[in-house]
Amino acid sequence: MSYQPTPEDRFSFGLWTIDWSGQDQFGAATRPRLDPVEALRKLAELGAWGVTFHDDDLVPFGSDAATRDAIVRRFVAGLADTGIVLEMVTTNTFSHPVFKDGAFTANDRRVRRFGLRKVLRNVDLAAELGATTFVMWGGREGQEYDAAKDQHAALERYREGIDTVAAHIKEQGYDLRIALEPKPNEPRGDILLPTVGHALAFIAQLDNGDIVGLNPEVGHEQMAVLNYTAGIAQALWAGKLFHIDLNGQKSVKYDQDLVFGHGDLLSAFATVDLLENGFPGGGPTYDGPRHFDYKPSRTEGPDGVWASAAANMRMYLILAERARAFRADPEVQAALEEAKVLELAAPTLAPGETLDAFLADKSAWEDVDPDALGVRECGFVRLNQLAIDHLLGAP
Ligand code: GCO
Ligand code: MN
Ligand code: MN
Repeated sequence: MSYQPTPEDRFSFGLWTIDWSGQDQFGAATRPRLDPVEALRKLAELGAWGVTFHDDDLVPFGSDAATRDAIVRRFVAGLADTGIVLEMVTTNTFSHPVFKDGAFTANDRRVRRFGLRKVLRNVDLAAELGATTFVMWGGREGQEYDAAKDQHAALERYREGIDTVAAHIKEQGYDLRIALEPKPNEPRGDILLPTVGHALAFIAQLDNGDIVGLNPEVGHEQMAVLNYTAGIAQALWAGKLFHIDLNGQKSVKYDQDLVFGHGDLLSAFATVDLLENGFPGGGPTYDGPRHFDYKPSRTEGPDGVWASAAANMRMYLILAERARAFRADPEVQAALEEAKVLELAAPTLAPGETLDAFLADKSAWEDVDPDALGVRECGFVRLNQLAIDHLLGAP
């Protein structure tokens, strides 16, 4: 099998990923920036389907209106030429010093008003260019020192900001949904909405939460010592998995943004199994883009950048093939049966069973021998080994 990606696979890349020059906190750039239209050509050549960008990735911060229009027009022509789809747009509210204390939750109200305008203006651009998802990663929304931030007020202002943006989308009738991206820390000491769970609870408090969902990133959940696959599973269950950021992370470190699958491979397998095959017992499925938010390592030159972009797609396709084989294997099906994995989809109460009827059912309590039930074999380890056999191609 060639693992050659095609547009049907719906792989997309952030412009800032392949265009990262390698400049970090400790050293200067190790390679030149890309021309955005050249980047589109190369993505198309590699078999990618889509692209995404921050306003400032494409149009340098502070550009005048004529420059902005010219850059955007050239990029749109590049999209048309290559067939690459602009599926998501996001706003940079973290690079410029003005956002050093955040945008929507900066203590200084002038910064909040400025940040809100930057985001609203970018929402209009996203809608104009046909993007259907608007990601909001509030990397600078947070604090290093607890005394420096009123958490109650910060959450109020965050809610006000997101609700204002969502209301604008609705008023304009844009076909656009907001996807919040949780992250526990980096660049702030602590970031607001640190995990999928926090963000879901936040969305439930919004007036316009119906068009607000999540863009969970593999490495971000893993930085919080959480299970990414379980996180996106809960977002799916809540009807809130609007978008995903796939990458790789090796344990609890700085945000490594490795190629997808180059971190926790077993977890990546479980993620692809869920995305491609859905829950074993049925339920909502993800049909959005397979979006990569990674950084080509600083050691790589221009060729290495494209090799790493291709590696993301190749990893996904390999894992998808292995996950399909895993689910189709009769031995796995028998092991799933044995482990009663599918039995979990059966409601605990029978259809129409009243609480009185349940309380009267001796087989549920009086006749149960908990000690006997406690010694049953679960067969989970065997099932897991079968998954690993398939992952390693050793069935
Ligand atoms: C990070 C984030 C960003 C966001 C991007 C989209 O940790 O730096 O993952 O890359 O995904 O800003 O809003
Ligand atoms: Mn990240
Ligand atoms: Mn991300």
